Amino acid sequence: MSEPPPPFRRTDLPVELRVDDLLGRMTLEEKIDQLHQCGASDTNPNNLALRPDAFRPTYGSFIVGGSPAVLEVRNACQRRVVTESRLGIPAVFAADVIHGYRALAPLPLAQACTWDPELVRRGCALAAAEARAQGIDWTFAPMVDHCVDARWGRIAETFGESPHAASAFSAASVRGFQGEQLGGRDSVAACLKHYVGYGASEGGRDYVYTGISPQSLWEMHLPPFEAGIRAGARTVMSGFNDLNGVPASANQYTLTEILRRRWGLTGPVVSDWDSVVQLVNQGFAADDAEAAEKAFTAGLDIDMSSGLYRDHLAAHVAAGRVTLAAVDEAVRRVLRLKFELGLFERPYAEANALTDAAPDPGQFALLEELAARSLVLLKNDGVLPLAASARRIALLGPLAADSAPLLGCWAQYGQPAETQSIAQALKERLPAGVQLRVEQGCSIQGAASDNPAAAVEVARESDLVILCVGEDGPMSGENASRTTLRLAGRQEELVQAVAATGKPIVLVLVSGRPLELAAFEGKMSAIVAAWAGGTRAAAALADTLLGRRNPSGRLAVTWPRTTGQIPLYHNMRPRGRGGDQGAYRDMPTTPLYEFAHGLGYTTFGYGALRLDRTEVKPDGRLVAEVTVTNTGACEGVETVFWFIRDPAASITRPLKELKHFEQASLAPGASRVFRFAIEPRRDLSFPDDDGRSVLEPGEIILLVGGQSASFRVTR
Ligand code: NOJ
Repeated sequence: MSEPPPPFRRTDLPVELRVDDLLGRMTLEEKIDQLHQCGASDTNPNNLALRPDAFRPTYGSFIVGGSPAVLEVRNACQRRVVTESRLGIPAVFAADVIHGYRALAPLPLAQACTWDPELVRRGCALAAAEARAQGIDWTFAPMVDHCVDARWGRIAETFGESPHAASAFSAASVRGFQGEQLGGRDSVAACLKHYVGYGASEGGRDYVYTGISPQSLWEMHLPPFEAGIRAGARTVMSGFNDLNGVPASANQYTLTEILRRRWGLTGPVVSDWDSVVQLVNQGFAADDAEAAEKAFTAGLDIDMSSGLYRDHLAAHVAAGRVTLAAVDEAVRRVLRLKFELGLFERPYAEANALTDAAPDPGQFALLEELAARSLVLLKNDGVLPLAASARRIALLGPLAADSAPLLGCWAQYGQPAETQSIAQALKERLPAGVQLRVEQGCSIQGAASDNPAAAVEVARESDLVILCVGEDGPMSGENASRTTLRLAGRQEELVQAVAATGKPIVLVLVSGRPLELAAFEGKMSAIVAAWAGGTRAAAALADTLLGRRNPSGRLAVTWPRTTGQIPLYHNMRPRGRGGDQGAYRDMPTTPLYEFAHGLGYTTFGYGALRLDRTEVKPDGRLVAEVTVTNTGACEGVETVFWFIRDPAASITRPLKELKHFEQASLAPGASRVFRFAIEPRRDLSFPDDDGRSVLEPGEIILLVGGQSASFRVTR
């Protein structure tokens, strides 16, 4: 008779019992190995290869990536783990699936410009299904950092500057990645990152100090993490940043007090790559051993890559600097995640139709919807949609015929060859008889072969110019800080030279951040922020330029006129003097394009703002409504943004804060009533410097669609 399976192998038992049973069987070394994470790739030199001497089969988790054969590498690694370790505890495999796997959606910042969390959820669900098909159990996403400095390359990975919006997209992404239930065929565990404050990197530089007031930490940085955890996110990644002198990867207040005690996170917190060993560089630990101790005792469970837990935790336990109970608790979190993912029952991933599959037309509809809805029409003098009278079109600029930049940063599994360029998409769609001439003019970053004159020549012989400029993928994302938002290389010179021809120009911006347009914005007939729109970016853009789609994206970030205005954001505090006092002397102080700005091919009229009362008690409810009518000639999506302003409070409050948004597609002539049901404790309070919610009686101003109304919160 065969032995009955040990309790931890029994699926009929509750997870917590299985965890306890397994933990009771583990040696200290086996436990500590569960807290170690390293790479498992056969091509990435940063990662461990699959050499037998390179890892112990008791390691808890691996990062896969860098190899085209992700599924094979993953399963080969798992086989060693499961068959060569004493207890056969399966490993969990993680990867950076940020805005898709091989079928890429737009960058997160672009996705936020759709203002459609449900659409974003669907995009994440597609990414999860593709990632699962490669054996990825856990994605390092969503990134929910708060950033108001576009010099920082990682602004591309954020959901923009509004904590309210980022919270909505954080929750939507978590639901998309994790699905109904963890362990499902199309589900991966989500990881909220980079906890916390990383987006406030000084000067837009990466991996640096972030000085954030405690109140601002609670108000601007923590809410999207809390929203993600409430939506069920199982894991969190700690940031690289030095948070007010106590690095985020060794910060007891944020890691233990907030995440565990207040928010009740039950899954593990993983460090960012080497952020434990970097505590030494940051001057927070004297040596590796102290770095391990400080990170671990602060509440960081898994050490990604640096190996310091593996090398030093046992000695800390022996010396009493780290308790065994704390090690058990951290291991419990890792094991809990593995049980929830079903890894004990299904340690190996199976190939399916999505494995190694090129994006297919079945996915195109969703990818195109995401890409099209994230486009923001910043300016339009009427040249768009393109009129049939434009018979000779010049398609110019370094982004005109190059598909790779459309994929953006974190596109390691994306294939430029499977991505249409803007030139290809336009050619496919332009009616017969329309001539499209393509000329690059210059490269993105500058090269000896740059030849703006050739592009100018083509412009001269055309009726209209579509000029595609911006950034390539590596110019945004991690370690991609810039001192200026100006176009790189000779692109500005190209824009100016083409503008000098006097031809109408539709400027298409492909980028991971707002770009500086001050020098030539006035000369452009239309400007489209196309971001890096992913695999189907070009199709979405071409359809929009030709009027087959009506653009509806609205900026999720304030667009400055010039780099020197940074930081500039809608929810700034008011300044002490009005008028020109304190304003810039050399340029307007206002942004080029406000937060939530975006045009379309139709117009919307707002009826009078109505409130159902003028006073509301803290636990009461006040309903505001406004009727919006499509007053133009084509169907369009309108997003209604509701802001509040608290004009006098015990601490200064922002000029305006986004509190609610909602959208609908309206046919020409159609109207819809949009409502904001205000619950004062939820919508009108603010956090103090320890996160306690403060609701004060007094006046509140509500702003929507260029109107405002005020009401009072009473006792
Ligand atoms: C470093 C990045 O900061 C983080 O976002 C990413 O998830 C890890 N590396 C793993 O690749």
